[in-house]
Amino acid sequence: MTPEEPLNIPLGVPTAARMYDEALGGKDHFEVDRAANAKLYDVIGENRVRSTALENRRFLGRAVQYLSRECGIRQFLDVGSGLPTARNTHQIAKEADPASRVVYVDIDPIVAVHGRALLADDTTRIVTADMRQPKTILDNPEVTDFLVFDEPLAVLFVAVFHFVTPAEDPQGIVAAFRERQAPGSYVAISHLTTDGMSEEEQQGWHAGFAGATVPLVLRSEPEIRGLFDGYRLVEPGVVRPCDWRPDEQDWPRTTSLFGGVARL
Ligand SMILES: C[S@@+](CC[C@H](N)C(=O)[O-])C[C@H]1O[C@@H](n2cnc3c(N)ncnc32)[C@H](O)[C@@H]1O
Repeated sequence: MTPEEPLNIPLGVPTAARMYDEALGGKDHFEVDRAANAKLYDVIGENRVRSTALENRRFLGRAVQYLSRECGIRQFLDVGSGLPTARNTHQIAKEADPASRVVYVDIDPIVAVHGRALLADDTTRIVTADMRQPKTILDNPEVTDFLVFDEPLAVLFVAVFHFVTPAEDPQGIVAAFRERQAPGSYVAISHLTTDGMSEEEQQGWHAGFAGATVPLVLRSEPEIRGLFDGYRLVEPGVVRPCDWRPDEQDWPRTTSLFGGVARL
């Protein structure tokens, strides 16, 4: 998005970015988003939904920590990054190396509006784009002038592929990014899952997102595992996010998601 482009912020429809912000206890959401989350809370239970969001967010933090501290990754493409909140990708990456570069990408223009004020410095960029059209990210000069694809780079797809339908070819989308990555690069993915989720809860997730700007698709564990094709999973593989290299005892544990990190 350039300064000349209209913002096009959908005000009358819930968006995933703002709903997630509400579930995490943030402030950047509207009445429509709170109403959509109220539907989720009614069916699934408020505690479970908020715990799912938090469990996911903590997974993102540990994945970035692992990639920056243990794998030496200094470039991150955070796709479906969401609104800025506590412990954003660049803040964690910079703990390992202040020169780490991060590009945040989100379909929702509100992310760039809030992010430019809060996140942007000369090692961080924010791009408004749709990952279902990978070239709009991979051939975007904002991205290609900033990240060096010939060197190892981590692509993060954290809690975003459940907004991509089978017809939109999720594996093809991962492959488009993978084909541009250099050896030694990584991918991190987390995803809402049907495994361990009652029929009623599945219907609750669908009902909550029914009027949102992006549809919700729940996937089974093998389908989520399939998104890592072409990479080698690092330990402990595709697991509940709370079990992925845990570093605390008392954090939210749900059976709503699977997540993992893999190397090219
Ligand atoms: C649940 S939030 C996850 C935010 C962050 N990755 C995290 O895990 O904390 C999902 C984000 O993906 C974004 N999103 C959904 N579909 C997208 C698409 N096709 N392209 C880019 N971003 C998308 C939403 O706008 C939202 O901000």
